[in-house]
Amino acid sequence: MTAPLLELDDIQSGVLRPRPTPYVATYVLFRIDRREAGRELMRRLSGVVTSAARPESSGRDTWVSVALTYQGLKALGVPQDSLNSFSPQFQEGMAARATKLGDVGESSPENWERPLGSPDVHVVITAVSKETEQLESAMESARKAYRELPGITAIWRQDCHVRPGEREAFGFRDGIGHPAVEGSGIPSTNPNERPFKAGEFVLGYPDEMGETPSIPQPEILGRNGSYVVFRKLHQRVAAFRRYLKENSTSPEAEELLAAKMMGRWRSGAPLARCPMHDDPELGADPARNNDFLFKQSDPIGYNTPAGSHIRRMNPRDADIAGVARIHRMVRRGTSYGPELPEGVLDDDGMDRGLMFAFVGAHLGRQFEFVQADWMNDSTFFGATAGKDPIAGAHNEGSIFDIPNRPLRKRLQGLPRFVVTRGGEYCFLPGLRALCWLGDLKI
Ligand code: HEM
Repeated sequence: MTAPLLELDDIQSGVLRPRPTPYVATYVLFRIDRREAGRELMRRLSGVVTSAARPESSGRDTWVSVALTYQGLKALGVPQDSLNSFSPQFQEGMAARATKLGDVGESSPENWERPLGSPDVHVVITAVSKETEQLESAMESARKAYRELPGITAIWRQDCHVRPGEREAFGFRDGIGHPAVEGSGIPSTNPNERPFKAGEFVLGYPDEMGETPSIPQPEILGRNGSYVVFRKLHQRVAAFRRYLKENSTSPEAEELLAAKMMGRWRSGAPLARCPMHDDPELGADPARNNDFLFKQSDPIGYNTPAGSHIRRMNPRDADIAGVARIHRMVRRGTSYGPELPEGVLDDDGMDRGLMFAFVGAHLGRQFEFVQADWMNDSTFFGATAGKDPIAGAHNEGSIFDIPNRPLRKRLQGLPRFVVTRGGEYCFLPGLRALCWLGDLKI
């Protein structure tokens, strides 16, 4: 059976196209106070949002996307039986899912940045581009859509920018691995990984389970949409640096420890291909830096610990409880905040981190499963304890095991390096669905 053709011209660009490199990005949140104004906004934005079609067009490095929360759909007057057809996690919203997601203690919703996690967040506009000038012109067309529209209020904004070497705040090259989607025309970054059925990431198509799952109704609203998860993740860079220093005997050992926690050297070079020393050329080479598996070459994790960030987040072919392919995620993260100058070990009180973004068709078995079961639990790969050493919801007693011969090394007392500052579950409608929302009459 041939796969149904993806309707690229109806799918928002950010679903299928990796963000440009280098990048600048802006996220703006809106509240809808007047239903008619919200609908007018949808009508106007349907002309501004970039579709995934025409990958060769010169505008492909700039996109504007529009997403709505459950409260946003409600504010537009989407009928209740339609609202009920969305995934239960989306209907509840991220703040209500906090305990499952490990958003407890200082990461819990009562400590989030306002208005994140509140019922006021209705619409999220994201603009991403290679350069500030192009971003500004993309934002200007979005601004035209919401300016002078009484009843629409911009309530929060976050600007992001690439860091030197495309590294996130802890210093690791980011934006390397992406799953390929059948019909998108974009090849996999890992030549060993088969492209995924489109239904994993876009609603209305068959998925890896061999089915076309039910989609939000009516069909015109759900088809070619996706769910998107935004999380503002604050990174404690000074604490991370101190932990590395305190648990290493030399600068070289510090770098190795950092690599063991991530599964890659800071250059992006994977431990799977160069376990003993960094190889910056390999790290920067997209043809090679994601070309590896684990099962044959490293079943125990002597090179890439099973508990390291990238092996937890994508165990590839390693032996785990369950099937890795149904938990793959499209990520569209961007960094925010100033650099902490190299070598500084004291916190300067500035906010820096990652605007994490997940795109997929299944909030439950993709984002929530990975966040709860792979990031914050270890039983899936046969270990008894331990959370993701980089992004896990650590409490004081957290451990991280580094397999070694003759004895494994066990790190104790990992503190939390990443604190959730807020987030939202959103729906990224197809372009026709945006027009449908704009034309709602009831
Ligand atoms: C501030 C927190 C985080 C940081 C600093 C971080 C950093 C990184 C880095 C440097 C990589 C390797 C480069 C790449 O493959 O693009 C990576 C990979 C990845 N991360 Fe994160 N990450 C964070 C949070 C998360 C969260 C919350 C999730 C999911 C719930 C996640 C899922 C993934 C996945 C799926 C990969 C790709 C693994 C692979 O295919 O090898 N990350 N992350």
